[in-house]
Amino acid sequence: MEDMHVADRGIELDDFARAVSEGLSREQKELPCRFLYDARGSDLFEDITVLDEYYPTRTEAAILEQCSPEIVADTPAGAMLVEFGSGSSVKTEILLAALDKLGVYVAIDVSQSALDDASARIGKRFPGSRIETLVADFAEPMQLPGREDASAILGFFPGSTIGNLTREEAVKLLRHFGQVLGSGARFVVGVDLKKDLSRLLPAYDDAKGVTAAFNKNILSRINRELGADFDVGAFDHEARWNDDKGRVEMHLVSRHSQTVHVRGEAFSFQSGESIHTENSHKYGVEEFQSLAQKAGWERSKVWTDRDVLFSVHELVYRG
Ligand code: SAH
Ligand code: AVI
Repeated sequence: MEDMHVADRGIELDDFARAVSEGLSREQKELPCRFLYDARGSDLFEDITVLDEYYPTRTEAAILEQCSPEIVADTPAGAMLVEFGSGSSVKTEILLAALDKLGVYVAIDVSQSALDDASARIGKRFPGSRIETLVADFAEPMQLPGREDASAILGFFPGSTIGNLTREEAVKLLRHFGQVLGSGARFVVGVDLKKDLSRLLPAYDDAKGVTAAFNKNILSRINRELGADFDVGAFDHEARWNDDKGRVEMHLVSRHSQTVHVRGEAFSFQSGESIHTENSHKYGVEEFQSLAQKAGWERSKVWTDRDVLFSVHELVYRG
């Protein structure tokens, strides 16, 4: 067993232990996907973003290159840019390069290591810019630092991270973001679109096995941080399309029957039984707009790539 220690993250260890205990006690075992992102998970996600099969990152970046002049034209000097689940903040640089005299960039993520790396890189590229980082679960109540000084608020939620929530959870989260950002705030959200499964499934099960490593890392994290005894090699990565729910699901499938111990609790697995680790919901453009409307967001603009693989929405909060 590896040594137990608390990794570089801002979530209380007890939250993690509780989520693991609850999730592995369900009939369909599951783990919340935010726990995929420790330092190693954040690095593996960055590796995913440059895979041939993983079209979302390069497609969204190309859309942002094209639409950023329109986005920033409506953003006055002294505005605050707030990004939820900022990760490496690579796409943020596209907006920052086009924005003149931004007041402050607030980056929010559960991964301390991702925030540290991103703020160091952005600080170097845009010297003199004000950057605030918040290690936090974006679904929790939060105070935005320097909010009272901002001339306007622009929210940013790229990467289709919204797809990692169920449609019901997404409405709740979008309403929460509206309350955090305030009435009249503008919001730029990246949303992956429904498409042929021959394109979709390899994006979540790549030939090099990077997505498999990203998925399995959650078990290594449980071993390391909670002193568990998962045999990581005894689980297979699987990406499944759930047609009813319109989503790709990631699972870790037990190769044989086995029992795993986490902090004194025993969890039994039958051969073929899975832990459901992530959902990636896929939308139609109008489907997403009406979901956002339910949360109090008015549609403003939308951009897609030529092949209509991915969409970038601009919304205004009227809730
Ligand atoms: N926005 C980046 C990263 C997307 S990956 C991009 O478009 O490439 C998803 C990011 O959201 C990760 O950095 C992860 O650590 C973060 N994240 C996931 N769940 C979160 C939560 N509940 N609260 C805050 N950050 C979260
Ligand atoms: C961050 N999120 C939107 C990614 C996705 O596509 O659902 C995470 C990911 N999981 C597997 N590959 C990428």
